[in-house]
Amino acid sequence: MIPWAKPNYHGNEEKYVRQALKSTWISDGSFIKNFEKRFCSYVSSRFAISVTNGTTALHLVYLAMGLKRGDEIIVPGFGYMAAANIALQMGIKPVFADVDPETFCVTAENIKKKINSKTKLIVVIHTYGNMCDLNSIIKIAKKKNIPVLEDSAESFGSKYEGRQSGGIADIGTFSFQATKTITTGEGGMIVTKKNKIFTDKLKAYRNHGVKVTRYFHHFPGHNFRLTNVQAAIGYAQLQKFSKIINKRKTIYNTYKNLLKNVEGLKLQKFSKNIKPVVWTFAIVLNPRFFPKRDNLIKKMKTKGVETRNGFYSPGRLPIYNKFKTSHLKNSNKLSKNVICLPFFTSLKRKEISFVVKTLLSFKKT
Ligand SMILES: Cc1ncc(COP(=O)(O)O)c(C=O)c1O
Repeated sequence: MIPWAKPNYHGNEEKYVRQALKSTWISDGSFIKNFEKRFCSYVSSRFAISVTNGTTALHLVYLAMGLKRGDEIIVPGFGYMAAANIALQMGIKPVFADVDPETFCVTAENIKKKINSKTKLIVVIHTYGNMCDLNSIIKIAKKKNIPVLEDSAESFGSKYEGRQSGGIADIGTFSFQATKTITTGEGGMIVTKKNKIFTDKLKAYRNHGVKVTRYFHHFPGHNFRLTNVQAAIGYAQLQKFSKIINKRKTIYNTYKNLLKNVEGLKLQKFSKNIKPVVWTFAIVLNPRFFPKRDNLIKKMKTKGVETRNGFYSPGRLPIYNKFKTSHLKNSNKLSKNVICLPFFTSLKRKEISFVVKTLLSFKKT
């Protein structure tokens, strides 16, 4: 079976994990500080705060921003639903903006339509390693004095006009789950250019509301702390990040060359000002040539290829029934027609050829 994703190790992961274990610093420890520091400098932000995963990263930001029941945040109609889910959990209203059908990213124009006096945050998702048009989004947000959060869980290393994903808007969040571009098993990071007061709040909410004095809880927080053992893996992955990027680029180009001119398939589009580090190879299937996507996924599996469907749009998720979703035309279409092909750094050329051959064997003429 060719899996859809697989974590790969590139250098010092084992050595650093052993070092962390041997040091007995397995909760807090120096790998955490080094990982945060190196990550922060990589994305050119001011502060980096490691957390347990990409979902708690978003949760912490909402808490530290003081978002509360009745507030609204704008989120994309197509993308991993973490930002909307945490909003829902906290009583914050997720207001969905439609995405572009070719880039799969939320557009400034669609965000603008959804802003009102209750809007407290705009979350953009750089889906599958692509990046949203941040210049126009940030321009609109600045006019209304609304902060922008880049959910960069799928786009670590991608660049927009030479600037790193997550380091451009007010706040960036990342995930290091096993399928991600760099991994710590489970893990996440928040980066922010906002002030130290905000950063200290994030850190306190990460640690049960404790600031300096041990056991003195300023507010009821969480334990969202990454461990030193996880940070050891992350630090090792970061050291080899340029190698990881190059491998991902080669895999992307191999797929692209085999699939770019195939009738009935549309590849995700990347604008000229974006240098993506692609997370997965996403294709929009034309149902006339590839009917019943979910069946196709099952059939591919019987041939030894694991693929994934695109994200469910909120209009197709009962938990979002009470929110307005009928305007999400592009999101709904993508949700039904996107298929994602296997993508990980140790994927071999002949495996890519096999994936493509298998996919095309199901094409109707
Ligand atoms: C865009 C996006 N945001 C947030 C998350 C949540 O990250 P985690 O799984 O680390 O909680 C993911 C995870 O896949 C994601 O793709």
